[in-house]
Amino acid sequence: MTRCPIYPKPLKNKASLLFIFFSKRRSWLDGLYERSYRMKMGQIKLPGLELFMVNQPELVKQVMVDEVDAFPKHRMLGDLLAPLLGESIFTTNGAQWRKQRDMLDVAFDNSQVERVFERMQEATTRMLTRLGEHPDGAVVDVDKEMTLVTADIIFRTIMSANLDTEEAMNVLEAFVRFQEASPKLALLRMFKVPDNWLLRFSDRKRRGDAKIIRASLERVIRPRYEVFMRGEASEHEDILASILRAKDPDSGQAFGFDEIVDQVAMLFLAGHETSASALTWTLYLLSISPDIQHAAAKEVTEVLGEERGSVPLAAVKRMGLVRRIFMESMRLYPPVGFLAREVSRDTDMRDKHLQAGASLVVAPWLLHRHEALWDAPHEFCPARFDPKSGGRSIPKNAYLPFGMGQRVCIGATFAMQEAVLILSELLRRFSFELAPGFQPDPVGRLTIRSDNGMHLVLKKRLPETETTA
Ligand code: HEM
Repeated sequence: MTRCPIYPKPLKNKASLLFIFFSKRRSWLDGLYERSYRMKMGQIKLPGLELFMVNQPELVKQVMVDEVDAFPKHRMLGDLLAPLLGESIFTTNGAQWRKQRDMLDVAFDNSQVERVFERMQEATTRMLTRLGEHPDGAVVDVDKEMTLVTADIIFRTIMSANLDTEEAMNVLEAFVRFQEASPKLALLRMFKVPDNWLLRFSDRKRRGDAKIIRASLERVIRPRYEVFMRGEASEHEDILASILRAKDPDSGQAFGFDEIVDQVAMLFLAGHETSASALTWTLYLLSISPDIQHAAAKEVTEVLGEERGSVPLAAVKRMGLVRRIFMESMRLYPPVGFLAREVSRDTDMRDKHLQAGASLVVAPWLLHRHEALWDAPHEFCPARFDPKSGGRSIPKNAYLPFGMGQRVCIGATFAMQEAVLILSELLRRFSFELAPGFQPDPVGRLTIRSDNGMHLVLKKRLPETETTA
């Protein structure tokens, strides 16, 4: 029996500005009201900005695909993340973004992602060892574990480093602090809170964390950059090696040192927090859906057959149900809950006039749960993604966990490969139940996370059950 997955109960009516300010300091999900899950377009006026919410598939396509130049990435996002990411692909626009995307695409094409599969296996094995140290039936905060394993994967695949060193753990902790502080600062800016010592103090701390992270990345990247500049062969075949080799197709120029640090910092930020969020919510959904969990464990056993070593890439590609479970999990809990854009020229949409300079948001969280678009929108139903249903249950332009159009996630193939590997390895060895009395608390920050972690009971699967489940 599957229970209905938790989501913040919407308010009856639109909230006041004061409520938005205080509740959204915790999570923007708390400011949503019942009509948010049915509306086609919304509007909200804050002291620091005018914000439009686009929630109709045709309008989403207009913003993300058809008139993408009229809706560039929001400037506030770039300003906010600049201390850490400099001018990275995540926040740039126009010709600068196009050049960066052309150069980075090569590092994330299918064959490159397959090439780093072994590194993903290594980090997954480390995670299994950590989990294996808990006694059978122990309560484990899988949110922490998913953060660790995805960060480890990013360290290993991008620059052949790992999380075993104290420095790597310091970097990870600084990342977590930076991510927590940034949305709070954004909100204060949206409400035009006057400059004060508290604001300056929290921004200084955030910038300090960005410096720690960049200094540490520079220590790894500098020697690799110098080896490359001397024309010597690298001993590593990782994503950094592809970035070093990348050339602008027009000018033939490679990335400079600072540009590489910007892109690598961005890959850390974009690449582990999102995957950790998606995996944590997937484990939650499995823990409240014993039938689906059982079917998924059975699939893993059948696909693996006699294989006793790490799950191989060929098996990952055959885990159809595990993949569908992950996709449905990203429908209910899209790691990137909203995509922020700016209106660059006056535009009319439905009955509204959007002036250049206004802000616009496309929210996968709302689109994925839109009551007029989806059957049973708040329920967990991986069968929606079954190819046998002919994709009929997935409304067009309404499912975008990886974004859409030219700014679609560059790491989508990477993330799918990593997630199916981790889930298959976990399902093979453990069963999951929600810890007694525990309820997760979904909050929307840079990603959708559970504010109180994710406490699950992990029971080791017996070899007999592995073969008979
Ligand atoms: C489940 C995991 C992931 C999810 C749900 C996700 C989601 C997204 C979304 C929604 C966007 C578009 C943002 C926008 O349009 O405003 C995006 C962009 C991006 N993602 Fe991911 N992402 C994931 C994993 C990764 C990984 C593993 C990497 C790299 C290692 C990565 C790198 C990027 C980059 C570089 C962009 C910017 C692309 C551009 O603007 O051209 N992501 N991601």
